[in-house]
Amino acid sequence: MNDAFAPRLDVEKIRADFPILNRDIGGHRLAYLDSAATSQRPRQVEEAMREFSEHSNANISRSVHTLGAEATEAYEGARSRVAAFIKAPSADEVIFTKNATESINLVAYAMLAATVEKGADERFRLGEGDEIVVTQMEHHANLVPWQELCKRTGATLKWIGVRDDFRLDIDSIDQVITERTKLVALTHVSNLLGTRNPLSQVTKRAHAVGALVLVDAAQSVPHMPIDVTEMGADFVAFTGHKMLGPTGIGVLWGRAELLEAMPPFLSGGSMITTVTMEETTFAAAPAKFEAGTPPISAAVGLAAAIDYLDNLGMDNILHHEKELAAYALPRLEQVEGLHVIGPRVPIARGATISFTLDGFHPHDVGQVLDSDGVAVRVGHHCAKPVCSRYGVTATTRLSAYVYTTTEEIDRLIAGLEKVRKVFSR
Ligand SMILES: Cc1ncc(COP(=O)(O)O)c(C=O)c1O
Repeated sequence: MNDAFAPRLDVEKIRADFPILNRDIGGHRLAYLDSAATSQRPRQVEEAMREFSEHSNANISRSVHTLGAEATEAYEGARSRVAAFIKAPSADEVIFTKNATESINLVAYAMLAATVEKGADERFRLGEGDEIVVTQMEHHANLVPWQELCKRTGATLKWIGVRDDFRLDIDSIDQVITERTKLVALTHVSNLLGTRNPLSQVTKRAHAVGALVLVDAAQSVPHMPIDVTEMGADFVAFTGHKMLGPTGIGVLWGRAELLEAMPPFLSGGSMITTVTMEETTFAAAPAKFEAGTPPISAAVGLAAAIDYLDNLGMDNILHHEKELAAYALPRLEQVEGLHVIGPRVPIARGATISFTLDGFHPHDVGQVLDSDGVAVRVGHHCAKPVCSRYGVTATTRLSAYVYTTTEEIDRLIAGLEKVRKVFSR
């Protein structure tokens, strides 16, 4: 279908599913423009979790009683739901974690385990001379674990820079990703700049030199159709609470063959096949990577969130957010002294827009906006290196989602004029 004729979201109908959006903040209706930090949850997600709690709550993969069987079915059903959503070849490639941060750490710690383990698969082993490559626009969740891993293994951390136009310096990848590179870990969409990265060029280069690729998709899976096979990555990490789901659940997708070869991260109950006092053999993935009782009701909530997103249609969500970015960007640029820290056109970018306002600290901007009921995030957004790259210590960030309206963006812009008035008194 021609993009211009793609069906739009019925935002008012969507908003009716989110009771929190009716909240009053200081006499103003809430305009929630902070979905990149965490999204709101529709009633359907809460209802699915309540239904599970009131009806089928039990531990999974242990008991033969009816509730145990229902809980196992609900949890494994959620795994299949996630697999279908990201077009994973098999549900066994979907590992539930606590959040995107834990998904990334899982791979980092598995590589650390492989490094010290005799006979571990070479692809995961690191030592002096080996290199891990990230980008300069990473969230700390996809930077710090790799810094730590390099420190512990003697490997070197390198990064692909970002250009003055807030895009990845893609022309440098042949210099940065070399025969020494063992892993490339990069974000799909930047949580600060909004930039969407050209993954295929990076994955092609990485695979050409025999490196693995981990994609931090925390800011893309909620906003666009994702096909992990098409993406060409080896691992993909994301988090439930940014995609209408509950907190406390994340996902790591990994290629089956890699999950089989990779040592576990946490060990203990549920991830074993046999245990004697001397030794243990591990279960196959995904169980191998899910030690202990997993987030069962959160998985149920995540599956309901995916149903909700699928009902809206990921193509429609992408279209809606592109329109919001196209609406917001030129209007923001008309605000005196405002600088967008991110691409200025709604092409290869999301509807997460960071900016600075000359003469005003983002915390003051955030406070004035909050007094009008407009919720934005201020600060370094857990992405300090990219702030430094552009010479700012903090920004104000608006981030849109399925329930965001152009009227809310207008309210934000009106609020920026108020900032000037309040602080020039
Ligand atoms: C790009 C990106 N990666 C990772 C994360 C971490 O997600 P979580 O806090 O759910 O682990 C975030 C959260 O802001 C993010 O924006």
